[in-house]
Amino acid sequence: MKIKKLITAALYITFTVCVGHASAQVKKTSAAKKKVTTTAAKVTPPPPFATAPEIEDGKNLVSKSDCLACHKTDDKLVGPAYIAIAEKYPKDQNTVNTLSQKVISGGSGVWGPIPMAPHPVITLAEANKMVKYILTLNSKNSPVVSK
Ligand code: HEC
Repeated sequence: MKIKKLITAALYITFTVCVGHASAQVKKTSAAKKKVTTTAAKVTPPPPFATAPEIEDGKNLVSKSDCLACHKTDDKLVGPAYIAIAEKYPKDQNTVNTLSQKVISGGSGVWGPIPMAPHPVITLAEANKMVKYILTLNSKNSPVVSK
Protein backbone atom coordinates (compact mmCIF):
# COMPACT_ATOMS: atom_id res chain seq x y z
CA MET A 1 0.00 0.00 0.00
CA LYS A 2 2.67 2.44 1.00
CA ILE A 3 4.72 1.71 -2.09
CA LYS A 4 1.71 2.21 -4.31
CA LYS A 5 1.04 5.59 -2.70
CA LEU A 6 4.66 6.57 -3.16
CA ILE A 7 4.61 5.67 -6.83
CA THR A 8 1.41 7.62 -7.32
CA ALA A 9 2.95 10.63 -5.63
CA ALA A 10 6.12 10.35 -7.69
CA LEU A 11 4.12 10.15 -10.87
CA TYR A 12 2.05 13.14 -9.83
CA ILE A 13 5.16 15.22 -9.20
CA THR A 14 6.77 14.22 -12.46
CA PHE A 15 3.59 15.09 -14.31
CA THR A 16 3.23 18.51 -12.69
CA VAL A 17 6.85 19.38 -13.36
CA CYS A 18 6.65 18.39 -16.98
CA VAL A 19 3.42 20.29 -17.64
CA GLY A 20 4.78 23.36 -15.88
CA HIS A 21 7.92 23.18 -17.96
CA ALA A 22 6.00 22.84 -21.21
CA SER A 23 3.69 25.73 -20.49
CA ALA A 24 6.66 27.95 -19.80
CA GLN A 25 7.80 27.41 -23.35
CA VAL A 26 5.04 29.32 -25.05
CA LYS A 27 6.17 29.88 -28.53
CA LYS A 28 5.92 33.30 -29.89
CA THR A 29 4.17 33.35 -33.19
CA SER A 30 5.87 35.60 -35.62
CA ALA A 31 3.73 38.22 -37.21
CA ALA A 32 2.41 37.02 -40.52
CA LYS A 33 4.41 38.53 -43.26
CA LYS A 34 2.43 40.01 -46.02
CA LYS A 35 3.48 38.62 -49.34
CA VAL A 36 3.27 41.16 -52.06
CA THR A 37 3.08 39.47 -55.39
CA THR A 38 3.18 41.49 -58.50
CA THR A 39 1.83 39.74 -61.52
CA ALA A 40 2.81 41.14 -64.82
CA ALA A 41 -0.20 41.97 -66.92
CA LYS A 42 0.10 39.44 -69.66
CA VAL A 43 -2.39 39.67 -72.43
CA THR A 44 -2.74 36.26 -74.00
CA PRO A 45 -5.22 35.89 -76.82
CA PRO A 46 -8.11 33.54 -76.04
CA PRO A 47 -7.58 30.02 -77.31
CA PRO A 48 -9.43 29.19 -80.51
CA PHE A 49 -12.90 27.88 -79.89
CA ALA A 50 -12.27 24.64 -81.76
CA THR A 51 -9.90 22.95 -84.17
CA ALA A 52 -10.75 21.95 -87.72
CA PRO A 53 -10.39 18.19 -86.98
CA GLU A 54 -12.78 18.56 -84.02
CA ILE A 55 -15.37 20.20 -86.25
CA GLU A 56 -14.89 17.50 -88.89
CA ASP A 57 -15.32 14.76 -86.26
CA GLY A 58 -18.36 16.54 -84.86
CA LYS A 59 -20.00 16.73 -88.26
CA ASN A 60 -19.41 13.00 -88.85
CA LEU A 61 -20.70 12.07 -85.40
CA VAL A 62 -23.87 14.11 -85.92
CA SER A 63 -24.55 12.41 -89.26
CA LYS A 64 -23.83 8.94 -87.85
CA SER A 65 -26.13 9.39 -84.85
CA ASP A 66 -29.89 10.00 -84.88
CA CYS A 67 -29.58 13.80 -84.60
CA LEU A 68 -30.67 14.50 -88.16
CA ALA A 69 -33.96 12.67 -87.60
CA CYS A 70 -35.01 15.65 -85.49
CA HIS A 71 -32.65 18.47 -86.48
CA LYS A 72 -31.91 20.18 -89.75
CA THR A 73 -29.15 22.72 -90.24
CA ASP A 74 -31.30 25.65 -91.26
CA ASP A 75 -34.90 24.67 -90.54
CA LYS A 76 -36.89 23.68 -87.51
CA LEU A 77 -37.87 20.00 -87.61
CA VAL A 78 -38.81 18.23 -84.36
CA GLY A 79 -35.98 20.11 -82.71
CA PRO A 80 -34.61 23.59 -83.43
CA ALA A 81 -32.45 24.30 -86.50
CA TYR A 82 -28.74 23.97 -85.75
CA ILE A 83 -28.22 27.49 -87.03
CA ALA A 84 -30.75 28.76 -84.50
CA ILE A 85 -28.87 26.97 -81.71
CA ALA A 86 -25.59 28.49 -82.95
CA GLU A 87 -27.15 31.97 -82.94
CA LYS A 88 -28.59 31.63 -79.46
CA TYR A 89 -25.51 30.75 -77.44
CA PRO A 90 -22.08 32.33 -76.86
CA LYS A 91 -19.27 30.32 -78.43
CA ASP A 92 -17.38 29.25 -75.37
CA GLN A 93 -16.50 26.16 -73.37
CA ASN A 94 -19.34 26.88 -70.96
CA THR A 95 -21.89 26.55 -73.74
CA VAL A 96 -20.14 23.43 -75.02
CA ASN A 97 -20.33 21.85 -71.55
CA THR A 98 -23.99 22.72 -70.99
CA LEU A 99 -25.20 21.63 -74.41
CA SER A 100 -23.09 18.44 -74.38
CA GLN A 101 -24.73 17.49 -71.12
CA LYS A 102 -28.14 18.04 -72.73
CA VAL A 103 -27.27 15.88 -75.73
CA ILE A 104 -26.24 13.07 -73.34
CA SER A 105 -28.96 13.44 -70.70
CA GLY A 106 -31.75 14.96 -72.79
CA GLY A 107 -33.19 18.43 -72.61
CA SER A 108 -36.50 20.21 -72.47
CA GLY A 109 -38.25 23.52 -72.06
CA VAL A 110 -35.83 25.75 -73.95
CA TRP A 111 -37.22 25.66 -77.49
CA GLY A 112 -40.76 24.45 -76.97
CA PRO A 113 -42.83 21.70 -75.43
CA ILE A 114 -41.07 18.77 -77.16
CA PRO A 115 -38.19 17.32 -75.14
CA MET A 116 -34.97 15.97 -76.66
CA ALA A 117 -34.37 12.30 -75.97
CA PRO A 118 -31.21 11.42 -74.02
CA HIS A 119 -28.21 9.83 -75.76
CA PRO A 120 -26.47 7.88 -73.01
CA VAL A 121 -24.14 6.02 -75.39
CA ILE A 122 -22.56 9.26 -76.62
CA THR A 123 -19.40 10.11 -74.66
CA LEU A 124 -18.71 13.58 -73.34
CA ALA A 125 -15.80 13.95 -75.77
CA GLU A 126 -18.05 13.05 -78.68
CA ALA A 127 -20.83 15.37 -77.51
CA ASN A 128 -18.27 18.18 -77.16
CA LYS A 129 -17.27 17.82 -80.81
CA MET A 130 -20.87 17.59 -81.99
CA VAL A 131 -21.81 20.75 -80.12
CA LYS A 132 -18.72 22.58 -81.37
CA TYR A 133 -19.68 21.66 -84.92
CA ILE A 134 -23.25 22.88 -84.36
CA LEU A 135 -22.05 26.17 -82.88
CA THR A 136 -19.87 26.89 -85.91
CA LEU A 137 -22.93 26.77 -88.20
CA ASN A 138 -23.70 30.36 -87.34
CA SER A 139 -22.92 32.50 -90.36
CA LYS A 140 -23.30 35.84 -88.55
CA ASN A 141 -20.90 35.30 -85.71
CA SER A 142 -18.63 32.38 -86.49
CA PRO A 143 -16.22 31.37 -83.73
CA VAL A 144 -12.47 31.05 -84.27
CA VAL A 145 -11.48 27.64 -85.58
CA SER A 146 -7.78 26.79 -85.73
CA LYS A 147 -6.09 24.20 -87.92
C1 HEC B 1 -36.17 12.78 -80.90
C2 HEC B 1 -35.77 14.02 -81.52
C3 HEC B 1 -34.36 14.51 -81.28
C4 HEC B 1 -33.18 13.86 -81.52
C5 HEC B 1 -32.98 12.46 -82.04
C6 HEC B 1 -32.13 14.81 -81.21
N1 HEC B 1 -32.65 15.99 -80.78
FE1 HEC B 1 -31.63 17.60 -80.19
N2 HEC B 1 -33.34 18.51 -79.67
C7 HEC B 1 -34.62 18.00 -79.86
C8 HEC B 1 -35.60 18.90 -79.30
C9 HEC B 1 -37.10 18.71 -79.31
C10 HEC B 1 -34.87 19.98 -78.75
C11 HEC B 1 -35.40 21.17 -77.97
C12 HEC B 1 -35.43 20.83 -76.49
C13 HEC B 1 -35.81 22.00 -75.64
O1 HEC B 1 -36.72 22.74 -75.96
O2 HEC B 1 -35.12 22.19 -74.61
C14 HEC B 1 -33.46 19.69 -79.01
C15 HEC B 1 -32.42 20.53 -78.63
C16 HEC B 1 -31.09 20.34 -78.95
C17 HEC B 1 -30.02 21.23 -78.63
C18 HEC B 1 -30.17 22.57 -77.93
C19 HEC B 1 -30.41 22.36 -76.45
C20 HEC B 1 -30.71 23.63 -75.71
O3 HEC B 1 -30.92 23.54 -74.48
O4 HEC B 1 -30.72 24.72 -76.29
C21 HEC B 1 -28.87 20.67 -79.10
C22 HEC B 1 -27.46 21.23 -78.98
C23 HEC B 1 -29.22 19.42 -79.70
N3 HEC B 1 -30.58 19.24 -79.60
C24 HEC B 1 -28.32 18.56 -80.28
C25 HEC B 1 -28.65 17.27 -80.70
C26 HEC B 1 -27.67 16.30 -81.12
C27 HEC B 1 -26.19 16.54 -81.22
C28 HEC B 1 -28.37 15.16 -81.41
C29 HEC B 1 -27.82 13.84 -81.85
C30 HEC B 1 -26.93 13.18 -80.94
C31 HEC B 1 -29.78 15.44 -81.15
N4 HEC B 1 -29.90 16.72 -80.73
C32 HEC B 1 -30.79 14.52 -81.32
C33 HEC B 1 -34.93 16.80 -80.46
C34 HEC B 1 -34.02 15.85 -80.81
